Amino acid sequence: MIVLGIETSCDETAAAVVAGAGEASTILSNRIASQVEIHARYGGIVPEVASRQHPLAIIPVIAGAMADAAVSWNGIDGVAVTVGPGLAGSLLTGVNTAKAISLARGLPLTGVNHLEGHIYASWLTGDRPVFPLVCLIVSGGHTDLVLMKGRGDYTRIGGTRDDAAGEAFDKAARMLGLGYPGGPVIQKAAAEAVTPVHLPRAWLKGTNDFSFSGLKTALLRLVEAGEVASPADAAAGFQEAVVDVLVTKTVAAAAEYRARQIILAGGVAANRRLRERLVAVSPLPVVIPEPALCTDNAAMIAACGGRRFESGLADGLDIDVLPGLRLAHGD
Ligand code: KG4
Ligand code: ZN
Repeated sequence: MIVLGIETSCDETAAAVVAGAGEASTILSNRIASQVEIHARYGGIVPEVASRQHPLAIIPVIAGAMADAAVSWNGIDGVAVTVGPGLAGSLLTGVNTAKAISLARGLPLTGVNHLEGHIYASWLTGDRPVFPLVCLIVSGGHTDLVLMKGRGDYTRIGGTRDDAAGEAFDKAARMLGLGYPGGPVIQKAAAEAVTPVHLPRAWLKGTNDFSFSGLKTALLRLVEAGEVASPADAAAGFQEAVVDVLVTKTVAAAAEYRARQIILAGGVAANRRLRERLVAVSPLPVVIPEPALCTDNAAMIAACGGRRFESGLADGLDIDVLPGLRLAHGD
């Protein structure tokens, strides 16, 4: 099976062609048109600006993905597109383009949950799921701990009570004047630290939940009081506090649910320190997509879509965007 995947849930316009399905997929092409430079001047994503950029980029990005994969339209077996969660105006471009292709080429269509897509990124480079597994999805919009007992079987067992981890990175970077997006710039600054500051951790004991708002406020107080020797020391202390809590609680949740594998997914999973610590601390095998597949892309959407087609989960041309879509029951 060869699937064209389309992703426009936030600020990346992406298209990919993937062969195989679900947990046994191979990337034939993977194109992304990033809007990072456009949003950088505002210090964050401006939804209206994002939604206006997707229509400009979507057709060239799809044409590029088709050319890179060297497949003709006759070689495509289905179209998979992100339906949510995400920004409504952004999602609309991807969904309507996918519908148009489906109608014009007579191809089956399937709507993919962006969060499920992030999990499927784990299986694009050879790793295979071992159930039950616990997955930490950490992105700009989400921080969720999910128990996966089998294919398509998701239970949310914990998550953030306030900011998503990626959102916290973005806000901390803004406070420290390091730019946007926050994750990569904090990671880079942290590497230059001399004496990392110590910041508090919210453990929320007895739960599998997270909270990052207190950490953010603690950082702000230090900055306002002029107690930070350098942005690098603050960045390192902040990154360490986030990583410490994410790693410790994920490993504990995996033990509680007797998981056999841990998956780390979503944009923040690109963080080098988080990857290293989780692998070092976890007694279980850890699967993490390569950094370029952690951040938003369409290959993960195509892989997940392939699994949906195999399971008979094609959708009609009347599918809607679902900005508030959730992954699992339990929340
Ligand atoms: O999954 P993603 O690309 O988009 C969403 O679905 O939200 O995640 C984007 C988030 C941003 O908050 C960004 O700062 C963060 O992922 N991120 C990182 C790193 N690279 C991206 N956070 C920490 N370290 C990184 N290296
Ligand atoms: Zn994402």
